[in-house]
Amino acid sequence: MKVAFAKPELPNTGTIVALVAEGRKLGKLAHQLDKVTKGAVARALEASRFKGGAEEFLTLLAPAGIDAARIILAGIGAPAKYDALAAQSLGGRLVAALNGAGEKEAAVWVEPLAEAKLSEAELAANIAYGARLRSYRFDKYKTKEKPEQKPSLKRFNVLTADTNAARKDFDPLDKTADAVNFARDLVSEPANVIYPVTLAAEARKLAELGVKIEVLGEKEMQRLGMGALLGVGQGSERESQLVVMQWLGASDAKAKPVAFVGKGVTFDTGGISIKPAAGMEDMKWDMAGSAAVIGTMRALAARKAKVNAIGVVGLVENMPSGSAQRPGDIVTSMSGQTIEVLNTDAEGRLVLADAMWYCQENFKPKVMIDLATLTGAILIALGTVYGGLYANDDKLAEQLAESGKATGELLWRMPLAPAYNKMMDSPAADVKNISGSRNAGSITAAEFLQRFVQRGVHWAHLDIAGMAWADKDAPTSPRGATGYGVRLLDRLVAAHYEEA
Ligand code: BES
Ligand code: MN
Ligand code: ZN
Repeated sequence: MKVAFAKPELPNTGTIVALVAEGRKLGKLAHQLDKVTKGAVARALEASRFKGGAEEFLTLLAPAGIDAARIILAGIGAPAKYDALAAQSLGGRLVAALNGAGEKEAAVWVEPLAEAKLSEAELAANIAYGARLRSYRFDKYKTKEKPEQKPSLKRFNVLTADTNAARKDFDPLDKTADAVNFARDLVSEPANVIYPVTLAAEARKLAELGVKIEVLGEKEMQRLGMGALLGVGQGSERESQLVVMQWLGASDAKAKPVAFVGKGVTFDTGGISIKPAAGMEDMKWDMAGSAAVIGTMRALAARKAKVNAIGVVGLVENMPSGSAQRPGDIVTSMSGQTIEVLNTDAEGRLVLADAMWYCQENFKPKVMIDLATLTGAILIALGTVYGGLYANDDKLAEQLAESGKATGELLWRMPLAPAYNKMMDSPAADVKNISGSRNAGSITAAEFLQRFVQRGVHWAHLDIAGMAWADKDAPTSPRGATGYGVRLLDRLVAAHYEEA
């Protein structure tokens, strides 16, 4: 599907979309459409329950008097409350509705709205952004699909008086959409295609955008003493990797960076503490934290963000085998702390312990945020609506929750407390990798991670196990890989860590 901006003009084919405010307040276009259709718009309104509320659509098929095949009246509610997210949602829902209807071409006519929150250009740009995000599809392995099974919509035009202003607002959003869709691709790929070495190769592609890339293999990690990460990968035929990405966009390339660390378990069988067969296929997306980090670095580099940002992802495959780590093994992490591995399925925290330590030793970040599909327990607590947010700093927590609201990638802050931390004490080593109780499972995982945060580092941990994959369509995210985290972190950087 191609997204484009053009000057307002009634199209000869396809669908024309007109915005209607709350209380059936028709704009100039809707009035014009009513006139040329000899009152069909007014009659349709009369015959329907459509009130112009946000999320409402009213479709008129084959109206006389115009060449277009279809008119859609799109409700937007109160213009004063209509924000960027609402506009993105509209773009996304239009794409879904028109693909469902077999439409090939759409023209969304944007007009300046009275008392509007968004400028006309912002409105146009965000509708286009939502359309791009929703039109994502992972279909490269479907070789027998008939044309009528494929999405029909080929062109999505946004009509606006000032196309230049709209394009200018759209440009960074377009790049963010590319990054989100890139992350979705990485998460969607099966584990026989995406494994540590091939995921590292995908990350290497960011070099084209000016990101400095370094990839460490098992030998280098051994030399650095990364026994926690390496222990997880030791049962796999695939070599573990650590990918380090640097985007130095600040005016001072030596300014302290903001750092993102991602869990990249390319497949999580559970290891010797093996998972049940039912649903194990989901564990191909146990690298979604790393995809969010790689995607964020891509977004920042593509839009040349004025920030120094570091991305570190620990890539391993967690397999049972004759060489696999056993329950009860004690490993030494890069930090020097010893870890008793009581359950080989609590592997993400082991990977992050070394990836986070490497990040802090090498880059001294002022802020470090890790993302991981870390626990089933966060799904019990928050379901698939909010991701879990843990932080040792209130300001950082606030900034993240705020960015979540602004992008629709929601976060809910969870508690950290010494009493939870104590639950991770091991009788045999410095720390154990499970508490031994099912209680507070996502919190104790976060407490484990906190033991690998250095003094003075503002740290946040995002447990995204409920957010990485969706069983249902959402307005700007078709079911499947969501690309969660890219919009959130890109926004966080833009709002709080970039130079003006
Ligand atoms: N990758 C899983 C967590 C997960 C579960 C992600 C469901 C997405 C959906 C993680 O490695 C894991 O297995 N966690 C265990 C920890 C337990 C052994 C303490 C869990 O949550 O059961
Ligand atoms: Mn696991
Ligand atoms: Zn896992």
